[in-house]
Amino acid sequence: MEPSLVPPAAISVLLLLLLLTPAAAWRPWPHLAKSNASDDALVADSKKYEGSSEFVHLKYHMGPVLTANITVHIIWYGTWQRNQKKIIREFINSVSAPHSKSPSVSGWWRTVQLYTDQTGANISSTVRLGEEKNDRFYSHGKSLTRMSIQSVIKSAVTAKSRPLPINARNGLYLLLTSDDVYVENFCGQVCGFHYFTFPSIVGYTLPYAWIGNSEKLCPGVCAYPFAVPSYIPGLKPMKSPNGDVGVDGMISVIAHEVAELASNPLVNAWYAGGDPIAPVEIADLCEGIYGTGGGGSYTGQLMDGHDGATYNMNGIRRRYLVQWVWNHVVNYCTGPNALDQ
Ligand SMILES: *[C@@H]1O[C@H](CO)[C@@H](O)[C@H](O)[C@H]1NC(C)=O
Ligand SMILES: *[C@@H]1O[C@H](CO)[C@@H](O)[C@H](O)[C@H]1NC(C)=O
Ligand SMILES: *[C@@H]1O[C@H](CO)[C@@H](O)[C@H](O)[C@H]1NC(C)=O
Repeated sequence: MEPSLVPPAAISVLLLLLLLTPAAAWRPWPHLAKSNASDDALVADSKKYEGSSEFVHLKYHMGPVLTANITVHIIWYGTWQRNQKKIIREFINSVSAPHSKSPSVSGWWRTVQLYTDQTGANISSTVRLGEEKNDRFYSHGKSLTRMSIQSVIKSAVTAKSRPLPINARNGLYLLLTSDDVYVENFCGQVCGFHYFTFPSIVGYTLPYAWIGNSEKLCPGVCAYPFAVPSYIPGLKPMKSPNGDVGVDGMISVIAHEVAELASNPLVNAWYAGGDPIAPVEIADLCEGIYGTGGGGSYTGQLMDGHDGATYNMNGIRRRYLVQWVWNHVVNYCTGPNALDQ
């Protein structure tokens, strides 16, 4: 890895991702409102079968995947309610809770575990919550760039009191921003992203992801389908399972990023496309697909709780709506709530 080559690439990765992602992967991005792409997404893509495509050639590029027990450290940036933190913590804790009711979050992780490294070792089945750090006074302001995000992480791992531990081999760092924080390209192009920190800024190469609470800025994009964009007439929002549209919408984005961090932590392991600066990764291929038949604005077959909330898998105590991930063994997106299992 040559980190000094990376900064411009990091930005183009995300821009190009959008162009290269197969048509079946979908989110109601604002640019779709201006074209007739929304019609296409509603009609044409819904005929596709859960992202299945002969054109997807996911390849292994010989880099590491996370085969040792995974520890997820969280930085809570801005103002977070106790209950919001609970929903997210319990989701992380659910990944390795094999006794949750089926279909479960741990069943969802089993698709991620199908990915191996050069030695044939699978991604770890163990994901646990590590340390947490609060940055409640917005140390780097209410508008962050991709570079200032790394400075926020640096502050957290070098803090004088209770710094986050440095865990470069099997640690993941999640920077979660509250609903009053804007991050470069948020809402227009991304709801979250992952990369690794540069030694020149942070002092270490640490795989990290940022995910934002979109409740105030763009719930119709990043908390879809618990909020819907106005440009799709007739579409009604679904009721979120934990009573918090922004946080329930973040769960699927967190899952997306954690699955990709595990299978492509240094962006040199599992991705599709010939170009390493434009990788399409295991969750990109299935964005917007949550159940059998999913594609376009149709989420696929989901479940309705007795309270009318929509979800597709169970955690330890709560229910969640989480997108599926690409299964390279069968060559389509799979999830624990598939009807044909
Ligand atoms: C978009 O669709 C509308 C009606 O469906 C049509 O009249 C219009 O020409 C289309 N625009 C483009 C750019 O294709
Ligand atoms: C490990 O990965 C291989 C190849 O995808 C798969 O066949 C096997 O079932 C995986 N093992 C576990 C424990 O997931
Ligand atoms: C990894 O996690 C498992 C439980 O899932 C535990 O039994 C094992 O001791 C852990 N290994 C290490 C090295 O911490």
